[in-house]
Amino acid sequence: MFEVPVISADNKSDFYKELNTCLTGLISGESDWLANTANAASLLYQLMPDINWAGFYFYKSGELVLGPFQGKPACVRIPLGRGVCGTAASTGQIQVVEDVEQFPGHIACDAASRSEIVLPIYHMGRLIGVLDIDSPVKGRFDNEDADGLTHFVSLLNQHIIWPDFD
Ligand code: SME
Repeated sequence: MFEVPVISADNKSDFYKELNTCLTGLISGESDWLANTANAASLLYQLMPDINWAGFYFYKSGELVLGPFQGKPACVRIPLGRGVCGTAASTGQIQVVEDVEQFPGHIACDAASRSEIVLPIYHMGRLIGVLDIDSPVKGRFDNEDADGLTHFVSLLNQHIIWPDFD
């Protein structure tokens, strides 16, 4: 059994060091994309304070399709360029949204969500999908979260053999 540790770091830099060490321990012996992204979503949901949704959308046949997640049921398909996830996927840029109500086209899956971070996942120049994390707290995410989660995504990329989703 994998024991999820308690992370007691009092700053984001130390928090992400511990989170990413934990992710490595969780996925380093496994390359299956579904198993590893399911466990990664669980790890984020268990360990990140003040979040209400964490999970993945994958790029399939020209749109984003819901993957493993923790939180309330979410919308299944998101066209590229729509909402925060579709914008991250179409621009290749991390989206840090301080207030989702101010983001044009934001797709509300959980009415409690107030802020959001979405990281595009690319492997060898190919768009794989996005990692999406929502919070009920306005302004929950900043550049330190973007840096720590960029490392989180790079660890996924190191250990996972991504399928051809099309
Ligand atoms: N809010 C997202 C949709 C996905 S849910 O938050 C899980 C968006 O605007 O892309």
